[in-house]
Formats: sequence, structure tokens, C-alpha cells
Amino acid sequence: MDGSVERTDFLVIGGGVAGLRAAIELAPHAEVVVLTKAEPTESSTGYAQGGVAVALSDEDEVGIHYEDTVRAGDGLCKEEAVRVLVEEGPQYILELISWGAEFDREGSRLSFTKEAAHSRKRILHSRGDSTGREIERVLINKVRRFPSVKRYAFAFTLDLIVTEDRCIGATVLMDKRLVNIYAKAVILATGGAGQIFSRTTNPPISTGDGMAIAYRAGAILMDMEFIQFHPTTLYHPSAPQFLLSEAMRGEGAVLRNIHGEQFMQRYHEMADLAPRDVVTRAIISEMVRTQSRHVYLDLRHLDKDFVKERFPRIYSTCLQFDIDITEDLIPVSPAAHYIMGGVRTDLDGRTNLKGLFAAGEVACTGVHGANRLASNSLLEGIVFGARAGKGAMRYVEALGTGGYPAEERPRLKETANLGISEIEKMRSVLRRVMWNKVGIIRCERSLVSARRCLGEWERVKGMNFDNQRGLELKNMLTVAGLIVESALLRKGSVGAHYRSDFKERGEDWQRHTLCQKDKGVYWGGSCEG
Ligand code: FAD
Ligand code: SIN
Repeated sequence: MDGSVERTDFLVIGGGVAGLRAAIELAPHAEVVVLTKAEPTESSTGYAQGGVAVALSDEDEVGIHYEDTVRAGDGLCKEEAVRVLVEEGPQYILELISWGAEFDREGSRLSFTKEAAHSRKRILHSRGDSTGREIERVLINKVRRFPSVKRYAFAFTLDLIVTEDRCIGATVLMDKRLVNIYAKAVILATGGAGQIFSRTTNPPISTGDGMAIAYRAGAILMDMEFIQFHPTTLYHPSAPQFLLSEAMRGEGAVLRNIHGEQFMQRYHEMADLAPRDVVTRAIISEMVRTQSRHVYLDLRHLDKDFVKERFPRIYSTCLQFDIDITEDLIPVSPAAHYIMGGVRTDLDGRTNLKGLFAAGEVACTGVHGANRLASNSLLEGIVFGARAGKGAMRYVEALGTGGYPAEERPRLKETANLGISEIEKMRSVLRRVMWNKVGIIRCERSLVSARRCLGEWERVKGMNFDNQRGLELKNMLTVAGLIVESALLRKGSVGAHYRSDFKERGEDWQRHTLCQKDKGVYWGGSCEG
């Protein structure tokens, strides 16, 4: 399959909050191409429910948002990155409001809610539980106004193009054809990797592509063992793993075990609003203790009209499965939700590879440390998406008009002879292995067993595919392998990484794990980034 060549100033891979915000920064100055691998609106961003955390309420201060973020990150946050997030967050959110974002209000004042591990009400929300959709709507509308931005949907990025240690574009599968898109700088904003676990809140697009392609290109990845598991997703045989926002507990919902007993007070002083990793492990303990596959979320004591108005999307989705959240106990269990690790960047989105920038969930800015504070990722996508845009702009200005390497047409090498059913089988087994052996509670034995399973598919990582499911499988295997090896290296429990065989933090726990092709997985310092 021979392909074609295209050229732009900036290539942004990903059209969620981070990619769109980066594109908006670049669009007044240059030509930008934004790629999405599915419909433009299909992203984690569009599904975000609870809201966006920002220190804008009268009772809040950026310093308190900073402290809550660092406390949740359990000692591994990069403090300058957190400072940037909380200090710049308010101005970017006000800008979003000036572009038309409608956050819920009480009268004329913005309405803030609370989520786990926040010591103040600071979460802005929209239409109750459709915050991500609103942010995405506003950003897409804004991007549309720039004639300098081209958006390609169903454009699957296979790999980055790197010449002389510099990233100069990417190879993309579009309309069954390969295209090499050359750019002066590339911004990766491909989101997370939840799909490598069989239970996840993430949409189908979240297969870790950006992390895998950056790794293959020589970028450094950091802290890949830190996966956040959300405590409450709907547990119902015929339902998808639909998220039940933490904001529900913020508004007074409580967890009960299958005997109807509240249990969170036994696990943490903040009870139902304890940090996410604590609540998740407490639920697992209760499920084991009561030999059940779920616990319950209970909102029955809250005012029915308030619940319907505050959580309209959750209310109507649960009704489709005959659960009336105002009257019934809701069966819930945890699922993989967010990856704190990713492509290591500095405060301007720069990676170790010249010309390659990253922002959003694919990146590891160090903001989240070992455990993300709820509702900090939309804010991170906005703040660091914009910063990556500015950083890429400065990089290109410094490049001047320097010559470009010869452009080549892409050519797909001989493709793998794996049929679609084999691909699907591997994806399904991989996801179950990751959930069962590399999930909420890990140990040497489970991790080594996962390593063995992955080892049997090593050859797949080197295969070429001409279809998206196969290309995603290859990326999922790469990212899964990096998570397993990082989790094996960290012999201790910190934040969301919990090892039943090393329950304490372990030696040198403040160091970060790093991954790089040709070097494998190894220890970095305590101030990476
Ligand atoms: P995404 O929004 O996931 O966008 C990724 C983009 O990359 C997509 O456009 C996709 O098509 C594209 N892409 C991926 N791979 C390729 C490829 N190979 N080629 C081309 N394009 C590609 N966070 C909060 O702060 N508050 C919340 O309330 C909240 N609720 C959440 C609820 C759910 C159900 C989920 C799943 C997450 C939630 N999060 C929340 C987390 C937050 O939504 C995400 O971390 C954030 O939206 C990620 O944004 P992003 O721009 O990095 O990636
Ligand atoms: C939620 O609404 O519970 C998700 C919030 C988040 O992941 O930040």
C-alpha cells in the first residue's frame, strides 16, 4: 500500500480537551492539522461527568487547591507543575466561559461541588453531569472559526516520523490509505489507555496509542505503574461500565455493602469522600469479605427532584437498566479510569525528543503524582494543552527556516497474517490478564504471571497491520508491558499503585520510574520532568 504526503506547520494528534486547546493556541499564527481516530466528538473528554476543578469560589484559594492536589498525589507530584495548574487554571476557565462555556449556576453565581479528597467545594459542572461535553462543544466551536485549522476524522496515527533525532511528522491511516503528514512540530494529545483493562470507564478510543508510538520513537515515559481505578461504575450484566460520578458522593450519596451496611468510616476518616484509591480498595475488601461482585451506591435519602436535576444523564442512563437512582440501591464496582503516567514532559509540553510535545492524559507532567485529584484532568488538559501550543510555537520560531529532510511517501511493509478473530481474541485475553493480574491489587506473583502471558505475544508488537484493531492491539501490548515492568520495579505501595507483597512505600519511593526503548524500564530521579 503506497501512500501520499501532506505538509502543515503543526500536527496535533488528538481532538479531546488537550489537543483542541493546543490547536486554539497555534491557529492564529500558523497552519494546524488536528487528527482524531474516530468521530471528532469521541474522546474521554466528551464523557467527563463530575466537572472541572478550579479555585474560583469565595471559600477557596489556589494555595488550598495546590495542597489538596499534592496530598492526593501522595508525595510524587512535581510541585512546579501543580503550581502552574492551580495558578493558571482560573484564568483559563474564565477564558472558556468568555468563549461561551455554560457552567451551572445558583442564581447568577457559579455553582461549585465537592469530590473526593477536595477540602473545598471547587468543581464546576455543566448540565449537571455533562461537563466534558460542554467543554468539548465550546472548544470545537472555537477551533471551527479558524480557517488555518484542518480537522481529519477517522485518521489513525500509526507512528511518528523521526529523522536525526527530531520528530517531523507522523504516518496516518486515512480512508484505507497511508499519508505521511510532515510538520515543524507535533503535539501528541491522544488521551489514556483504559481499554487495556477489561473493566474500564474509558471509551473505545483509549487504547494508549500515543504512549506506544512515542515509546517506539524514542520518547521517555514516566510513572506508568500508576493507574487510577474509579470506585463506582454501574455493575449490571447488560450495562456498559457506565461511570457514576464521584460528585454523587460529593452531594451526599453513600456506599453500602450487600448487607446494606455503610462501611467507609471503617477505612478512612473522610469516609465516602476519602481519596479514590482508598475508596476503591475499601470496596474490594468489602466485596471479598461479603463474597459479592459489587457494593451499592445509595442516594435514596436525597431529595428526588434534586437528584434528577443534578445528575440527569446518570438518572436517564440507569433507568434504561431499570434502576431508578432516586429509589433503588445502585450496584457498583470499580473500573480502570485514568493513567497518571505517560510521555514525560516539562512545563511547556516538551518531551525528550526534539519537535515532539505532549499534553493531556497521554502526557506525564507530574501534576498528578501517584494519584490524581478528582476533576483535575480537564483542567490539566486546558492549561497544559495551551502551554504545549505555546511551547511548540517557540520551538518552531527558534528553528527558523532551517531546511527540511526529504519527504518520503509512506509504504506499508508486509502485513501480519493475523485474522480479525485472532486479533479480537488477543485483545480480550490481554484485557482480562491486565484486570486480574495488574489491577487494583498487585503482587510479584501476579505481575510475573502477566509478564509471561504478554511475552507469548511479543512478536505481535513488531507486526504491521493494515487495520485499526490490529494496530491498536500492538499499542495495547506495548503499553501493557510497560505498566507491568514499572509495577514490578516499584516494590512498594504508593498512591494508586498497591502491592500486597510490599504494603509499605519501600526504599527510594520518591523516585520516578522511566521507560525508554533500548533502555527498558529503570529508575529515574525524584525530580524528573
Ligand atoms: P481524550 O479526550 O481522550 O482525547 C483523545 C483524542 O485522541 C481523541 O480525539 C482520539 O480520537 C485521539 N486519538 C487517540 N489515538 C489516536 C490515534 N492513534 N490517531 C489519531 N487520533 C488518536 N476528568 C475530569 O477532570 N473531570 C471529570 O469529571 C472526568 N470525568 C471522566 C469521566 C469518564 C467516563 C472518563 C473516561 C474520564 C473522565 N475524566 C474526568 C478524565 C478526563 O476526561 C480525561 O483525562 C481527559 O478528558 C483526557 O483528555 P485528552 O484530551 O488528553 O484525551
Ligand atoms: C467523576 O465524575 O467521578 C470523574 C471525575 C474525574 O475523573 O476527575
